[in-house]
Amino acid sequence: MNFDGLQYPCNFVIFGATGNLACIKLLPALYHLEAAGRLPADLTFVAFARREWDDGAWRAFMRENLEKKLGERFNEDVFAAFAPRFSYLRGELHDLEAYRSLYAELSKPKTGACSNIVFYLAIKPVEFPAVIKNLAEVGLNKPRGLHRVVVEKPFGQDIESARLLNELLHRYFDEEQVFRIDHYLGKETVQNLLVFRFANTLVEPLWNRNFIDHVQITVAEDVGIGGRADYYDKAGALRDMLQNHLMQLLTVVAMEPPPALEADALRDEKVKVLRSIRPISKRAIHAHAFRAQYGPGTVNGEPAPGYQSEPGVEKNSVTETFVAAKFYIDNWRWRGVPFYLRTGKRMPRQMSLIAIRFRHPPQQLFRETPLEYLEPNWVLLSLQPSESMHMEIHVKQPGLGMNTRVIQLNASYRKTDEAPLDAYETLLLDVIEGDRTLFIRFDEVEWSWRVVDPILKYWEQERDFIHTYAAGTWGLQEANRLFDSEDQEWRNDL
Ligand code: BG6
Repeated sequence: MNFDGLQYPCNFVIFGATGNLACIKLLPALYHLEAAGRLPADLTFVAFARREWDDGAWRAFMRENLEKKLGERFNEDVFAAFAPRFSYLRGELHDLEAYRSLYAELSKPKTGACSNIVFYLAIKPVEFPAVIKNLAEVGLNKPRGLHRVVVEKPFGQDIESARLLNELLHRYFDEEQVFRIDHYLGKETVQNLLVFRFANTLVEPLWNRNFIDHVQITVAEDVGIGGRADYYDKAGALRDMLQNHLMQLLTVVAMEPPPALEADALRDEKVKVLRSIRPISKRAIHAHAFRAQYGPGTVNGEPAPGYQSEPGVEKNSVTETFVAAKFYIDNWRWRGVPFYLRTGKRMPRQMSLIAIRFRHPPQQLFRETPLEYLEPNWVLLSLQPSESMHMEIHVKQPGLGMNTRVIQLNASYRKTDEAPLDAYETLLLDVIEGDRTLFIRFDEVEWSWRVVDPILKYWEQERDFIHTYAAGTWGLQEANRLFDSEDQEWRNDL
């Protein structure tokens, strides 16, 4: 690969370099790109954070984190190449002086003619405006090459704040410079869903209201809020996961084939889906959305505290850690097919699954046989922990009678020698290479907020009660009220 072209950045600034996101996701992903030889030779990183450190202290911190995260996969040679790329810059996000120092750091002479810079905002959303303004104030928004700014989700707190944030970004940066990231789009299964749907003629004719009974999208986590109470307690599961990750999964399941696999063509189709989602009226919120919060319980055999006992959580907080919602997409393909979305923390185990249930056959041919009720067919796309695809179909049981049983056709599409990568590797490489296909356009954000905003607003008024589920369980029976018919139920495993 040729890294000399102007489109590659030579500086990559991480704001919030010592934070949760940088440590858990960004640094390991960048390290993996180093190991795979995918980082441009002259790319350097500036770790921007508040602690009174020098380069040495920063590199020791980075080593400790990577060793912890990667275990046996940590490699001294890779780290020896990776660590010197970093310099550490101490600064406060609100302090303009720090940005002057950053400017000076980035202006140091470099080999080659590259002047592109990536600014990654791995910080709390409330800090975005300060960083955006300060970058512009010192002139770092000007595309000497093409400076890129990467903004993490949630993009805004609701539709109004999302619009304000977008206006602010556009005051200082052009749209081509803005990368709104949703790391679920970088996950293998999500990308594979596009291949599954649009590279196989077998699938597409069945992918509609004539054959599909309903769709379930579940992202269950066994972890709690991991020391992020200051952010999470104000966000909740609806903003943290459903408005972005789960809605993006929904769009990829439901969209029409794009005319080309290009950034805007793909985003146009996703926006059409979001625009077709039936608005939920205030009166219908109860039937369409359910929220709950984890209480104390046991997860993976270990006692787990309730949400209210997590450090930093406000007393009597009614922030939801579980949300389930039902949406209808009123277009020709999907009219009448419910999409059930569900996500929660402190569930029994990590499981992200797209489950598609097909309709019963029009004729119960086997009614007179010992088999009276035919289980419907399912297609299951597992995102986590395994990346696999399963199809449940009926076969005849070998033997004399006409008995059937359900078997699964299973396809794990990672070979054993193919190391799993996190979504961030793909997306960081895309940022470096300037490919925006898997990044979110503002109209997607806006339409997605439009869908969830009525739920948010309604819950904001109900501040005195929230259901509680025991940590380590799948939530509560009450979430079943969303189902359209009695034979629908949550799919909790493959
Ligand atoms: C983040 C959320 O966007 O996604 C976290 O802020 C959540 O709360 C995380 O834990 C889940 O990501 P993944 O890739 O581990 O499923």
